[in-house]
Amino acid sequence: MSDKVYVFDTTLRDGEQVPGCQLNTLEKIEVAKQLEALGVDVIEAGFPISSPGDFKSVVEISKAVHEPIICALTRAVEKDIEVAADALKYARRKRIHTGIGTSFYHITHKLKSNQEEIIERAIAAVKYARNFVDDVEFYCEDAGRTENEYLARVVEAVIKAGATVVNIPDTTGYCLPYEYGEKIKYLVDHVKNVDRAILSTHCHNDLGMATANSISGIMNGARQVEVTINGIGERAGNTSLEEVVMTLRTRPNMGLITGINTQMIYETSRMVSTFMRMPVQPNKAIVGRNAFAHSSGIHQDGVLKNRENYEIIDPQDVGIRESSIVLTARSGRAALKHRLEVLGFTLTVEDLNDVYDKFIELADKKKEIKDEDLFVLVGVEQSEHARRIQLKHLQVICGSSTQPVASVVISVDGEEYSATSAGNGPVDAAFNAVKQIIRKTVTLEEFLIQAITRGSDDIGKVHVQLENKGTLYYGFSANTDIVTASVEAFIDALSKIG
Ligand code: KIV
Ligand code: ZN
Repeated sequence: MSDKVYVFDTTLRDGEQVPGCQLNTLEKIEVAKQLEALGVDVIEAGFPISSPGDFKSVVEISKAVHEPIICALTRAVEKDIEVAADALKYARRKRIHTGIGTSFYHITHKLKSNQEEIIERAIAAVKYARNFVDDVEFYCEDAGRTENEYLARVVEAVIKAGATVVNIPDTTGYCLPYEYGEKIKYLVDHVKNVDRAILSTHCHNDLGMATANSISGIMNGARQVEVTINGIGERAGNTSLEEVVMTLRTRPNMGLITGINTQMIYETSRMVSTFMRMPVQPNKAIVGRNAFAHSSGIHQDGVLKNRENYEIIDPQDVGIRESSIVLTARSGRAALKHRLEVLGFTLTVEDLNDVYDKFIELADKKKEIKDEDLFVLVGVEQSEHARRIQLKHLQVICGSSTQPVASVVISVDGEEYSATSAGNGPVDAAFNAVKQIIRKTVTLEEFLIQAITRGSDDIGKVHVQLENKGTLYYGFSANTDIVTASVEAFIDALSKIG
């Protein structure tokens, strides 16, 4: 069996089914090009019969992307298949993904049919699709809850009818890893013609086991894995691309590889999160804000001695510049000393002990100790690094029928400057005005607004990350006015640039 695991990305189809996360065609093309650069083998670009927008997206992605196979989803219905084939007409490499429910629930309650009829419909759909394309993938919807014996009959029949890939979705995220692995093994052992097709995993995360199930499927013979960036998808989501890819890479003893350029994982994650307006949870494996952040004293000390003491992945392997040491009340002297040295302070043991006592006292009151706090602790209150730049006044005019315009007054080293600028939204206008005053070349790497509760009177927390000459600067603010919070966070980051 080959050691290559094909990566089938369904961010633009299953991932995009998340309420409120729909992308327009241009955004989908951008994501598809990014997925191509990332090195995915297959892009599931949409479900063409479902809407004119989905049809158009499949057409445009087929034109814009050349390397990966472009795949379009259908039901086991002739009209769906015809429309999918039409949408794929410009694709250099194309695949139709057709299928039908195979579990008792789907056959009885959804399709109001019986097992024999479902096999007939499955065969007919594959044969029909093969009239249009050479590459046909068949999905056995709710395979996770389909008994293995019947599933094996369906799989054998669709391979005989011409399916090149057979997808075994755990549609409801019901399986345990050992069960899903056994299911794949059962098919490998009992389907006579299984060597003529690739078995594919497609696991949902309802019990938080999507990645574990996919890995178990791969270990038992599946050679394609269906995933989304950041694990997005309906309900609790799909298997996350970054988790599966980095599992295979981090555990080379499994002897399995993918063609993913892992250093592009983080930027792809950011792009999808931004376009879909879906923040990544801070503790998300591989791409979460805290995935490479260390806050307890013992871990910080260990990481500073040797990163591998507490990190199994080099952050640079996934495109994150460096691990971060977050200074909190749980930090030890080693982390404080390290941060002070980065800021240019080398203290004697006695001085470090003094500063550490003050640091702990402050850290008990504040959640996180920032660089400007450290300057105060070491007695450099008016350091050029301290908050030299402050927002004094902000006024924004915006609305549904006017172009947003923002005016700001900012004090820099005690002197006040003002500027006015337009933008494509109130935050953009305000940032443009700030940039007229603070003329630093910066790229906005991250802009995240989070509400704490669900009320419209909620405090908005804003995180900003700016890049300047290869270094990242982080800014934060919280305010009931999210535009003000955004500008304050932007200024917080700008004021750290030397
Ligand atoms: O979860 C599922 O079963 C699916 C199929 C349509 C492939 O997304
Ligand atoms: Zn799915």
